Amino acid sequence: MENKQLDLTNFNLTGKVALVTGASSGFGEHFAHVLATAGAKVIVGARREDRLKNLVADITAKGGEALAVAMDVTDAGSVAAAFDQAEAAFGTITVLVNNAGVAAPKTVHKTTEADWDFVVDTNLKGAWLVAAEAARRMVSANTPGVIVNIASVLGLATSTGHGIYSASKAGVIQLTKHMALELANKNIRSNAICPGYFKTEMNGEYFDSEAGKAYIESTPTGRLGLMEEMDGPLLLLASDAGSFINGAIIPVDGGHLVMSI
Ligand SMILES: NC(=O)c1ccc[n+]([C@@H]2O[C@H](COP(=O)([O-])OP(=O)(O)OC[C@H]3O[C@@H](n4cnc5c(N)ncnc54)[C@H](OP(=O)(O)O)[C@@H]3O)[C@@H](O)[C@H]2O)c1
Repeated sequence: MENKQLDLTNFNLTGKVALVTGASSGFGEHFAHVLATAGAKVIVGARREDRLKNLVADITAKGGEALAVAMDVTDAGSVAAAFDQAEAAFGTITVLVNNAGVAAPKTVHKTTEADWDFVVDTNLKGAWLVAAEAARRMVSANTPGVIVNIASVLGLATSTGHGIYSASKAGVIQLTKHMALELANKNIRSNAICPGYFKTEMNGEYFDSEAGKAYIESTPTGRLGLMEEMDGPLLLLASDAGSFINGAIIPVDGGHLVMSI
């Protein structure tokens, strides 16, 4: 069999329509810039619309194309309405970055049912609602597609105070594998990235504290991840460069998960 030449344009996303959930801050905001720079038309979804509008203005100023849609991932009606709005503007979404997420760090005996509902409804039910909506629409449009779920190293390991969060992200990992299995024959790939620790609004206060700094120093690299260290994994999974990667769970954590016990 003759090998095809290496083609770096496979990483290019021109012609793709991408949705990033949780795009009003942190990873989601960064991912929206990365996907737009790679050529995709990008729909940015979250609840804080003012933030999304600023992001769209930034992307547009840099020559990209983007649209803000208000979206609460815990609400099926809100998710469907956001997809309708996105489709009317840019056509079928072919790249989903399922990124919206929350945390409520507490030890097990202090957590409440409300904490469970908050975290699981957003991280797991929300991820499922958005992925299922995306998959339905890709299938009915008969188009190939890609789903990138943002799980966490805490979906593969756990840590004191993060029980519900860990459980929700473990659920996202299983959901990823299940979608990969069921959608492969529709030419839709599903993979998950498990980030280690990166400073965002979710955890900034902790990582600025003495306890947070000491914890990070105890990890193999002794530092937090940098946003741009997510770009390669994201583009690999979102683009045709990853065309045979399906059901993969990829830690991006500087080796945090392989620490010795
Ligand atoms: N930072 C890390 O170290 C780390 C590590 C592993 C995994 N992660 C995961 O990475 C993802 C992004 O987190 P981040 O660190 O970037 O934190 P972040 O800055 O707090 O961003 C979270 C995003 O989720 C959105 N969101 C929350 N609830 C939502 C809802 N009901 N509907 C729609 N959007 C909602 C928020 O937007 P609105 O409030 O405007 O709706 C916000 O844009 C999360 O899934 C998180 O679990 C983060």
